[in-house]
Amino acid sequence: MPDEPQNIYDDPGFLAGYSTLERFGAGWERAAEHADLVALLPDVNGRRVLDLGCGAGQLARHLATRGAAEVIGVDVSERMLELARTQWAHPRVSYQRAAIEEVTFAPARFDLVVSVLALHYVDDYRCLVARIAEWLTPAGVVVYSTEHPIFTARLPYEGWVREEAGCKRWALNDYSDEGARDETWFVPGVRKVHRTIATMMNGLVDAGLTIERVVEPVPSAEWLDRHPSMRDERRRPMFLLVRARKG
Ligand SMILES: C[S@@+](CC[C@H](N)C(=O)[O-])C[C@H]1O[C@@H](n2cnc3c(N)ncnc32)[C@H](O)[C@@H]1O
Repeated sequence: MPDEPQNIYDDPGFLAGYSTLERFGAGWERAAEHADLVALLPDVNGRRVLDLGCGAGQLARHLATRGAAEVIGVDVSERMLELARTQWAHPRVSYQRAAIEEVTFAPARFDLVVSVLALHYVDDYRCLVARIAEWLTPAGVVVYSTEHPIFTARLPYEGWVREEAGCKRWALNDYSDEGARDETWFVPGVRKVHRTIATMMNGLVDAGLTIERVVEPVPSAEWLDRHPSMRDERRRPMFLLVRARKG
């Protein structure tokens, strides 16, 4: 049985750490994979959009400013939603507190479902993508980013090994052992779920979705000029981005 959905973003210690990240708040557009994600989004003019794990609401608001008719942001964290409601409000965006695993919508309710870096917190991926497929209109689109399976297979502080020459190498291991990984990220006990690329891609196919694009971004040279301490991030992808269409 999967565990109860975790709500680590309401933990004051976790949020104190997470809010120091550049991608938090207004810095979301400076995230290394931001341009790749935006490039996957379809034209949202007049569209009804669902953002799963919307966090502080930057993307939800962005989509409304791009002409979306309605955006619903769903998140389990009251603290993140408080930020969304106070700092990233928009007349066509509403925020709903719910776990992704439990929220319900009518069939064909949305033209686009987006989710940025939230699906690796969800246990039952197959069930989730089947629900997303049901919520989509015919030819509706889902775009998501998640932590990459090459990254989630190991705990972040166990994956790097140092070679004799001093340079780092990512030692992939336990790739096929799908399931929860408890890591220390600002606080102990942050729970993420590892699954293989095959599980993720086949889950979409089995839900009746057609995969249109898969992106494994690594930081660009320009981004690394501004973040020189992150140069090892080119050695393996940290994120996986997908766009799929119903039908
Ligand atoms: C890494 S943050 C990303 C937030 C936002 N999408 C962004 O790109 O800035 C992950 C978000 O997913 C939310 N989350 C994690 N597990 C969740 C769940 N089971 N149900 C709903 N939201 C969840 C967290 O509260 C957090 O706001």
